This record gives sequence, structure tokens and C-alpha cells, in this order.
Amino acid sequence: MLHISRPRTVTTIVELRDVVRDWRRAGDLVALVPTMGGLHEGHLSLVRTARRRAKRVIASIFVNPTQFAEGEDFEKYPRDEVRDAELLANAGCDLIYAPTVSEIYPDGFATNISVKNITESLCGTHRPGHFDGVTTVVCKLLNQAQADYAVFGEKDWQQLVSIRQMVRDLDMPIRIASSPIVREADGLAMSSRNRYLSEKERKIAGKLNRALFASADHIAHGIDLERVLEACTKALLTAGFNEIDYIEARDSANLNLIHTLEHGKEARIFAAVRLGQTRLIDNVPIERTGRAG
Ligand code: PAJ
Repeated sequence: MLHISRPRTVTTIVELRDVVRDWRRAGDLVALVPTMGGLHEGHLSLVRTARRRAKRVIASIFVNPTQFAEGEDFEKYPRDEVRDAELLANAGCDLIYAPTVSEIYPDGFATNISVKNITESLCGTHRPGHFDGVTTVVCKLLNQAQADYAVFGEKDWQQLVSIRQMVRDLDMPIRIASSPIVREADGLAMSSRNRYLSEKERKIAGKLNRALFASADHIAHGIDLERVLEACTKALLTAGFNEIDYIEARDSANLNLIHTLEHGKEARIFAAVRLGQTRLIDNVPIERTGRAG
């Protein structure tokens, strides 16, 4: 059996900064991969992307209470520190930062980072307060780690675009890198929440990405966008999804709703659907040449 030593875990800002200070003194570039744990191959691909950019990689694991609304899955969100540490060791992570809730939100904490416009559609409409929770905690994690790079997944495209906007607007001295969506064999986008799915639901879940890729192909070949998305919605309800929060085509950069494809602009289909108790999100590019990536 291959034994790779587990990365060191620190839980406080002081310890984190001490380690990063030593790395920087040695001239090493540092990258941070923020996560909420419950790790899978999607998270590990971010660690590998981080490694290509920087000699030292930190993964943070923090299930951030402020990005879960009342009645969401904060309590039952998967937590498995031992397994996460093993996976991170194999992926080439040097340090795990796993702060407590009081380290991140000490008594009297009173600041909120809110990005306008980009967060006001898609998941922003269906999960009130979610993106404020995300941008506030990510701002804190970036300030705490003082890394050269932070890496985020394209699976949460709206989150990625919001974080880029925040970093630009607040002149934060960090570069944001992104990493493509990692999918299961049937195309289902990997997610910590997929483990909530029953066997029957898991089979249905695989149909979401196929419906989205097929719709993107149809739109790319000139079929009317609104008609394609309407048909896609109907097909998903027929396939067994309980509720469609949204299926929309938007400009990839500013998330403006689009009604037709425009040359020179990248567009994507964004979807959030409910299957039993589980909410799934996904997004695919609309490419004139047909399906890819
Ligand atoms: P979490 O859902 O744990 O995701 C951590 C990072 O992994 C995010 O950047 C997310 O986009 C990326 N990721 C998740 N599934 C992926 C997949 N299948 N392929 C590629 N990347 C994937 O996103 C969060 O946590 C939180 O909101 C966080 C940014 C940590 C702030 O609390």
C-alpha cells in the first residue's frame, strides 16, 4: 500500500499565516483552494490546477453556515476530515486549513460583502443570502491565507464570476484561476450533495447533463432558444425531476439573459433542479461547433 504523509492541518489564522510567511520568504508561490469538505474528484482537480500554478497548495475546509439558508442542508452536510485529508495528501496538497466557526465569525462580527447584479439571478433568486455568505467568507479566507492564487470550479459558475467581480472591485492582491467541471461516467457533475441521492434518483440525475448538452447543441445549430429550453424543462419533469428552479441561457461573462446567440460572445445554459430532497446545479457551454468539454 502506498503511504503518503498527511498534510499538516492548522485551525487558526495565526498558524496559517506563519506557514505562508515561511513559504513566501523561501520565494515559493502559494495557491489556496477553498472547499467545504466532503471532497470528491472535482475538488481534487482544483488542487491539481493549483499545483500547476504554485509550489505550495493550501486547501481550506470550512462548512460556512452563513451561505446556507434556513431549512437547507447545513446540519447534514457531509463532514469527514480523515477521508478528506487522505484525498488531499494524494492530490499534492501541502496544508489543510480547517478553522472553527468562531475563528471565522468571532463574537461581534458585523461585515457583509455583497456583489450586486451578478448575484441577483439564477441561484441568487432561489437561495436568498447565499452569495453574500459565499463572498464574505471567501474574502476572509483570501485575506487570511494571503496566497498568490485561489482556484475555483466552473461547476459553480455564478460563484466564480461573483468572486472575480469582488476581487476586481476590492483590489484584492490575488489571481483567481478556474478549473473545468469534473463529471461522473454518465456525465453527472460531481458534487458533495450527490451522496444524498437514492439509487433510483441517481439514475435520473444523470439525465440532467445530457438534456443540457443536447439543448446547447440544438441552440448552437440555430433552433429557437426559448423553444429548446421549454422542451428541455418538460423533458426533465417527465424524466422524474420534481421541480425546475431555472433553466436559462446567459452570457458567460456578465450572466445577462440572452435570447439569441451573438457572435464573439460566450454563452452557457445554467440549470438548477430538484430531485427528491436534493438540489442539483449544472452548466454547459453553447458552442457553435457542437458539443465539447
Ligand atoms: P464546495 O461546494 O465544497 O466547492 C469547493 C470548490 O470545488 C468550488 O470552487 C467548486 O466550484 C468546486 N467544485 C465542486 N464540484 C466540482 C466539480 N464537479 N468540478 C469542478 N469543480 C468543482 O463552493 C464551495 O464549496 C463554497 O461555496 C466555498 C467557495 C468553499 C465558500 O464557502
